[in-house]
Amino acid sequence: MRNKISVVGAGNVGATCALYLAQQALGDVVLVDIVEGVPQGKGLDLLQAGAVLGYDGQISGTNRYEDTADSDIVVITAGLARKPGMDRLDLLKKNAEIVNGIVDQCVQYSPNCIFVVVTNPIDVMVYLAYKKSGFPSHRVVGQAGVLDSARYATFIAMELGVSVKEIRAMVLGGHGDSMVPLPRFSTVSGIPITELIPPNRIKAISDRTRVGGGEIVKLLGTGSAYYAPAAATVKMVESILRDSNQVLPCSAYLTGQYGITDLYVGVPVKLGRQGVTEIIELKLDPKEHQELLNSAESYRKAIQELEGLI
Ligand code: 2OP
Repeated sequence: MRNKISVVGAGNVGATCALYLAQQALGDVVLVDIVEGVPQGKGLDLLQAGAVLGYDGQISGTNRYEDTADSDIVVITAGLARKPGMDRLDLLKKNAEIVNGIVDQCVQYSPNCIFVVVTNPIDVMVYLAYKKSGFPSHRVVGQAGVLDSARYATFIAMELGVSVKEIRAMVLGGHGDSMVPLPRFSTVSGIPITELIPPNRIKAISDRTRVGGGEIVKLLGTGSAYYAPAAATVKMVESILRDSNQVLPCSAYLTGQYGITDLYVGVPVKLGRQGVTEIIELKLDPKEHQELLNSAESYRKAIQELEGLI
């Protein structure tokens, strides 16, 4: 039996996810959107790209949740994207309503799926999806740490003039400007970057990473990044469907780890066929830990603003 992956939201992130999923032969992809014609059109276009690129999974587009029935994974990308000058939290209420509706529908048709939430503000939307779905928390996970770490890795590679392939970067915390890049846990071929880059340059790279999404929003003028966000999402889906237990920073539900309870925040997790199979607790120094707590706290406030929707 082939895996079935539904991607809700046929915008740039959703469609690019569908492309990468198909290219990696991770399963059949159903692209869902409320706009009539768009998911169908993009689905057909992606299917035809397979004839050239050589992938042969099914890709289809639909406006009906019935067609997502029995998905193994549902990726939620639908929602509004930021405009220049906006914070991800500015999207809060509108996207909460959208995500609520999607979760209701998907739970009905795929009661055993794993949700991967990409809609911003991710750490709040994934909490909402968890509460709304009634699923165990290991089956509801948020994207972002992989994306933020990819940006960190890119800037480290640029700084050192080395291949990005050997870089393993680690960024924790929420997917917002309060995220916590961790130089001590970011390495080039196993060498911590603290051995290779002077502190003032590490600070500059970390600061650029924190506003990495905003840098692209500003450049694009309308909409936000999608190639790297989609690639990061598909890396998570891959680890789940191939049960490869990759350790990836993801937004996961905490029950006391890092001194945080009843919140989703970016931490390293093991991702396998059951979803989040383990949360890894790093020994953070007091400054790193405080930054993580500060980041988490901003999402607790946002969740409180959604009273009534959760
Ligand atoms: C980003 O950081 C869209 O939040 C996403 O680019």
